[in-house]
Amino acid sequence: MTEISNTLPGPSTLSQPLSQGTDPCWTGLGVVLGSGGIGTAVAATLRHRCPNLTLLVCGRQGPPRQDLYVDLEDDQSLESLATDLRERNLPLRLLFNCTGRLHGPDLMPEKRLQQVNRRQLLEQFSINAIAPVLLARSLEPLLKRDQPFHYASLSARVGSIGDNRSGGWYGYRAAKAAQNQLLRCLSIEWARRWPLATVTLFHPGTTDTALSRPFQSFVRPDALFSPERAAEQLVDLLLQQTPEQSGQFLAWDGQAVPW
Ligand SMILES: NC(=O)c1ccc[n+]([C@@H]2O[C@H](COP(=O)([O-])OP(=O)(O)OC[C@H]3O[C@@H](n4cnc5c(N)ncnc54)[C@H](OP(=O)(O)O)[C@@H]3O)[C@@H](O)[C@H]2O)c1
Repeated sequence: MTEISNTLPGPSTLSQPLSQGTDPCWTGLGVVLGSGGIGTAVAATLRHRCPNLTLLVCGRQGPPRQDLYVDLEDDQSLESLATDLRERNLPLRLLFNCTGRLHGPDLMPEKRLQQVNRRQLLEQFSINAIAPVLLARSLEPLLKRDQPFHYASLSARVGSIGDNRSGGWYGYRAAKAAQNQLLRCLSIEWARRWPLATVTLFHPGTTDTALSRPFQSFVRPDALFSPERAAEQLVDLLLQQTPEQSGQFLAWDGQAVPW
């Protein structure tokens, strides 16, 4: 199994110093979806790097662990999120989707065709592809033409079709590829309608979280990021993105990933 390990240059190849100290001063409302390994660290990093942002962490655990309950696979829950955010009367500055799923109680990535089945494909697509675009649809009414806004979403390099050399993981790969296409479409539409919006897809690098844990024996220890390091790298890139760059699929080191 090389799906994770072959995609990863080691952390030592990080080419540029992190640019703390020169961060743009973002204000308004920032929303992080998901407080798994990377989401929790992204929220902590954003609190540190963008202290003027009012940051909310949302997910299926809800209060008291999270600020708001949101199930991204439930349309009603997405509408409630939009209502709640609107009532806060703050400009929406950032949405960072850190949710996703690779395995679960009845879900394991497929090693061969005979393991591919309808239920698993739908489960992979539900959170990894459909949720990110429906989240954007629900929150679009909060955007304003003269207001900067970033929508970042975590994809995965294994969702790259051009970079797929080892096969396997049919559902997860295809769902991430579908997310990439859906958000690329979104970036093109938003460039016309919301010229200050920036949409970015990120590959965080293989990171030590519950999602990657069953597969970490295939990863060199020096190629596995801590969630804190992954978050620093992602936020560092996020803060550099401008509307002219909208619609990119970037790896943790700032390199464009082939679609
Ligand atoms: N870790 C890696 O090596 C790696 C590599 C490449 C890409 N990624 C991507 O990075 C993202 C974050 O991964 P992670 O490593 O932080 O995984 P994680 O620790 O498993 O976190 C995933 C989060 O998604 C949330 N989630 C799942 N379904 C949801 C739903 N319907 N509504 C709301 N939240 C939901 C989970 O919440 P619950 O607690 O409610 O389940 C959990 O907080 C994923 O998109 C993953 O594909 C990770």
